[in-house]
Amino acid sequence: MKLDRLLSVSDFERAAKKFLPRCVYGYVRGGTEDERSLRANRQAFDELGFLPRGLNVVDKRELSTELWGRRYAMPLGIAPTGLAGLLRHECDLDLARAAQQARVPFIISGSSSVPLEKLQEEDRDNWYQAYFPGDRARMSRILDRLRAAKIDVLVVTIDTCVAANRENNARMDFIIPFRMTPRLLLDGMLHPRWSVGVFLKTLYANGIPRFANLYEEIGPPITQEPAHGFRTGRDRLGWDDMVWLREQWKGRLVLKGVMHPLDAEKAEQIGADGIIVSNHGGRQLDGTIAPLAALPAIIDTVSERLPVMIDGGFRRGTDVLKAIALGAKLVFVGRATLYGAAVAGEAGARRVLSILATELDRDMALLGCASLSEVTAALLKTRAGAAF
Ligand code: FNR
Repeated sequence: MKLDRLLSVSDFERAAKKFLPRCVYGYVRGGTEDERSLRANRQAFDELGFLPRGLNVVDKRELSTELWGRRYAMPLGIAPTGLAGLLRHECDLDLARAAQQARVPFIISGSSSVPLEKLQEEDRDNWYQAYFPGDRARMSRILDRLRAAKIDVLVVTIDTCVAANRENNARMDFIIPFRMTPRLLLDGMLHPRWSVGVFLKTLYANGIPRFANLYEEIGPPITQEPAHGFRTGRDRLGWDDMVWLREQWKGRLVLKGVMHPLDAEKAEQIGADGIIVSNHGGRQLDGTIAPLAALPAIIDTVSERLPVMIDGGFRRGTDVLKAIALGAKLVFVGRATLYGAAVAGEAGARRVLSILATELDRDMALLGCASLSEVTAALLKTRAGAAF
């Protein structure tokens, strides 16, 4: 595959769709139930348009941004995505390397398929996303492991207290516990490049594919519960645990999945160092509004000192600029870089990041801005015509 023939994130999605078995592509693309939130995430960008300024001198453009004293090449990062190993052998490593090369943060998923210690080799500035069970002894053990692996930024996902209703996965027999069915077998046979290049390679390297961090955190066996899919103890996790966590964890603490302004306020009160406004890419509670739509009220609620980040549906430089204009510090992409990695591993993820960087740079110039601080809500209008 000639990567320079793929010009946009959507091109990568189409190429990934061809390469991946239907069940794996469905797992990545899908949302929950009627996929209202998944659609809302994209539609939210259409609700906002630009009012660009002309004749601003924009020959020296600066895309880099600073967060907690670190400088990132652009206001973009890679969101945590579990089970990425299904797309490609050691896909998490491809994503981590691509992020490192592009000088943007990569968040290791709590359900990644490569152990975090391996991802931390080569001196990377990875962040780590935890799915905490509501059990402090286990949480302490996770924290010890993170400290030993020199993780500095801990991201706690708060929108996943029970497993979501992913009907699209169940329809394709893609469920836990995994069982080989005729449908899956046929799916694999129809995608031989994936079956040989990913499935057999992983099987050869690791035995039955393990979800390294998940297993060590939650500890098998995960008990089956008809109402919840699988039970992880996360429905016992509460704000008290976050207060406890803040005392235990001296590194940066970020809460991911904040949608309500009151939760944003609480996050600031407990001493979080940042929040990520997110509806989990439309993969948890269906009907949750788009993060972009939730952003303005959250920005109004928290103090300027708290970095507010966001993810959900970002596919273009213009999408990123809309969030920056509304006050986001950093934007994360989940599926976009996964599609890149599915198509061509590290090189594919790198190409996706570089497409987004090029778009951002060009779009910022066309908007009349030389730096991110000039990208403000004064350059936006809602579709209904209201200015900010
Ligand atoms: C996710 N997401 C996610 N979030 C998280 O906190 N931990 C995780 O393990 C995962 N796993 C995961 C797997 C896959 C396949 C996807 C697509 C997403 C959510 C992710 O971090 C992020 O919130 C969304 O992906 C952002 O939306 P876009 O960019 O994918 O539209």
